[in-house]
Amino acid sequence: MIIGVPKEIKNNENRVALTPAGVAELKKYQHTIYVQSTAGSGSGFTDGEYEKAGAQILASIEEVYAIADMIIKVKEPITREYNLIKEGQLIFTYFHFASSEELTHAMIARKAICLAYETVERKDRSLPLLIPMSEVAGRMAPQEGAKYLEKPLKGRGILLGGVPGVKPAHVLVLGGGVVGTQAAKIAAGLGAQVTIMDINLTRLRELSDFMPANVITQYSNEYNIREAIKTADLIIGAVLIPGAKAPHLITRDMLKEMKPGTVLVDVAVDQGGCIETCQPTTHENPTYIIDDVVHYCVANMPGAVPYTSTLALTNATLPYAVQLANKGWQKACADNEELRLGLNVVNGKVVYKGVADAWNLKLTNPTAILELVH
Ligand SMILES: NC(=O)c1ccc[n+]([C@@H]2O[C@H](COP(=O)([O-])OP(=O)(O)OC[C@H]3O[C@@H](n4cnc5c(N)ncnc54)[C@H](O)[C@@H]3O)[C@@H](O)[C@H]2O)c1
Repeated sequence: MIIGVPKEIKNNENRVALTPAGVAELKKYQHTIYVQSTAGSGSGFTDGEYEKAGAQILASIEEVYAIADMIIKVKEPITREYNLIKEGQLIFTYFHFASSEELTHAMIARKAICLAYETVERKDRSLPLLIPMSEVAGRMAPQEGAKYLEKPLKGRGILLGGVPGVKPAHVLVLGGGVVGTQAAKIAAGLGAQVTIMDINLTRLRELSDFMPANVITQYSNEYNIREAIKTADLIIGAVLIPGAKAPHLITRDMLKEMKPGTVLVDVAVDQGGCIETCQPTTHENPTYIIDDVVHYCVANMPGAVPYTSTLALTNATLPYAVQLANKGWQKACADNEELRLGLNVVNGKVVYKGVADAWNLKLTNPTAILELVH
C-alpha cells in the first residue's frame, strides 16, 4: 500500500503520525511510505532519518495526499486540507467529528474512509488510542502544578516535596482513572502528600493496593472535597463521565475556602472541566487567576511535549496502521472489531452513531458497508 504522512498544519501541532521506527516496521511488509519534508521536525526527527528508514520525502502536502492510498495523521484535517482528500482515500487520524459539523460534512462530501483514533475501542470499552495522551497529560499535571506553585509564577511558593524538617505540599487528585493515576504517581514520586478521590470503589481498592504510602484514597463526595481543598496546595481535575460533560466538583464559592496561591490544573477541561471557574487556555497563555487561585486549563497538554507524545501515540497506532496497510481497510475492519468501531464516515455515509446523533444525520450500519464492499 502507498502510505502518506503529511506535516501537521494545525496551529502549534508538533506531533507526527509516524516515526522513522514506524517507517521501518511498515517497510518490512513491502509498503511504500511518503513523508512530507520536515513533517517530523517538531518531534525531533529529520528527513534524513526517515529516508534512512526507507521513506521517500516529498516537498509538498499536495504531493503526499495525491499519491497515497492511506493518509496517517495526528489531528483532524483542517479546511486547507479538505480538497486534497480523494474519494475512497483512507484517513487514519483523530477526527472528533461530534465537535465539528463543518468537518463532518466536508468528509462526507469528499467520500473518504475516515477511521478515527478516538473511537477505536477494545472489548473492555477502553480506548487504546486515547490512553497514551491521558498518560502524558496525567504525568505532566504535577510538573505544571509544581511550576505554577512557585512564587514568581503567582503560586503559594511551596516546593512539592518539601525538604527535611519542612512538610511537603498536599496534592488533591479528583478522579482515579488514567490521568489521575499517572498524576498521583508523579506527585508522590516528587515527595508530595497525595489524596486521590474517585466514586468507583473498585478503582479506589486497586489504587490503594499499588500506590506508595504517601498516597491516600478517599471516596469522592462534596463533603470530602470541601474538607480537602482547605489544605490542598495543588488540585488536579481528572474526572470523566464518558460521553458527558464533566461534573463541576469544585464550584466558584469553594475558591474562597482555598489558601491564596493554590494551583488548580483542570486536565478535564477538554470535556468542559470539573472546576466551575476553568476556561480552556493555551500553551502561550496557560494560566489566569481568580480569587488568588491560579488556574491552569490547557486543553492540549500533550502538545507541549511532542517528542514524548509522538512516541506514545505511534506506539499505540502503529499496530493498527500495519493491519490496515497489510489487509486494506475493509478486511482489516471485518477481521478486527476494535478497528471497525473506528469507522466514522465511509464513502459519504456516516457509520458511527455518535456522529449521526450529533448532527442529525442518517446512520448507516458499518457492517452493511463492509458486506457491500466484500
Ligand atoms: N487537557 C488535556 O490535554 C487532556 C489530555 C488527555 C486527557 N484529557 C482529559 O482528562 C479527563 C480524564 O481522562 P482519563 O483518561 O483519566 O479518564 P478515565 O475514564 O480513565 O478516568 C476518569 C475517572 O473519573 C472518575 N470519576 C467520575 N466521576 C467522578 C467524581 N464525581 N468524582 C471523582 N471521580 C470521578 C471515574 O470513576 C474514572 O475513574 C478526560 O476528560 C480526558 O478527555 C485531557
